[in-house]
Amino acid sequence: MTFARILGTGGYLPDRVVTNEDLARMVETSDEWIVSRTGIRERRIAAAGQTTCDLAEQAARAALAAAGCTAQDIDLIIVATTTPDRIFPSTACLLQDRLGNHGAPAFDVQAVCTGFIYALATAEKFIRSGSARKALVVGAETMSRIVDWTDRATCVLFGDGAGAVIVGTDSEPGIMSSHLHADGAYKDLLTVAGGVSEHPEILREGTAHVLMRGNEVFRMAVTTLDNIVEESLQANGLRREEVRWLVPHQANTRIIAATAKRLGMSMDQVVVTVDRHGNTSGASIPLAFDVAVRDGRIQRGDIVLMEGFGGGFTWGSILLRY
Ligand code: ACO
Repeated sequence: MTFARILGTGGYLPDRVVTNEDLARMVETSDEWIVSRTGIRERRIAAAGQTTCDLAEQAARAALAAAGCTAQDIDLIIVATTTPDRIFPSTACLLQDRLGNHGAPAFDVQAVCTGFIYALATAEKFIRSGSARKALVVGAETMSRIVDWTDRATCVLFGDGAGAVIVGTDSEPGIMSSHLHADGAYKDLLTVAGGVSEHPEILREGTAHVLMRGNEVFRMAVTTLDNIVEESLQANGLRREEVRWLVPHQANTRIIAATAKRLGMSMDQVVVTVDRHGNTSGASIPLAFDVAVRDGRIQRGDIVLMEGFGGGFTWGSILLRY
């Protein structure tokens, strides 16, 4: 039997740091309001002309180096993004060209903040079925390009960045299970309404911005994440205390703390980067994972639960032994 295992991780953040104080000079807000409601203190914002693919490339190269392989070894490329460089080709194809890989299947996954969970679960199925032996899975976003910088309710929440993993084969499970869900009935609670087909005028006017009913999203996120934690544990016959690390989507420390409490985990076992990264949507989970692998918190053999929730709504989890 062939299983999928994470061989290496990488991450990349743009240089420019934007603090809450910086934002307080742009909109009517305060460091105190942002920190108390979200836990966010600063975020990184891509430079003019720096694209999602630019960020993805840096994260991918770091993950390839960590896994000790080259772009030519990769036979599957998946990029989770809500902010692709172009409508087409996919950011995965643009990334493939940058890396000098030819011929591997390459495609984007659009599941907003749950995108990386969807992408990693897809890669795992390719590996387990024997369709791929080494996959590059990236979450990359330039959320700053779809934020209304005059709207204090949303502009304080988001940031830019990219995270990546290389997934290879193993005779024992690295990735133990994945659970993916969606319910499009909630499409209007968290959305960017402008698009190619439905509201092209919004795209033309340059006003395709994140719209969010924050309170309702918050309530749904907490309840749903509770349920998927239970689903993951039950599917694997695991007790809560066997999970060593929680790597959640980084939207808000209050949502993260609620999930940790449900798991009976102390916050020392939860990887939190939202304070420094903001919400980087599909990039947030692989970025947080990379941070904790590189600083030595997550060790080989540790059981890690990744979970995400985002626009759609979409939600999902991955349980893995690193
Ligand atoms: N600074 C100061 N005041 C603000 C700001 C701001 N940046 N933004 C909103 N306010 C004001 C509002 O205008 C409102 O004022 P009013 O009472 O005079 O009308 C007041 O603060 C309260 O606004 P709420 O929206 O009710 O604030 P809430 O406590 O719900 O916090 C927040 C908002 C942080 C967005 C919260 O709802 C939340 O975390 N929601 C989860 C959604 C989320 O994280 N989304 C990210 C994308 S989805 C995902 O990744 C899961």
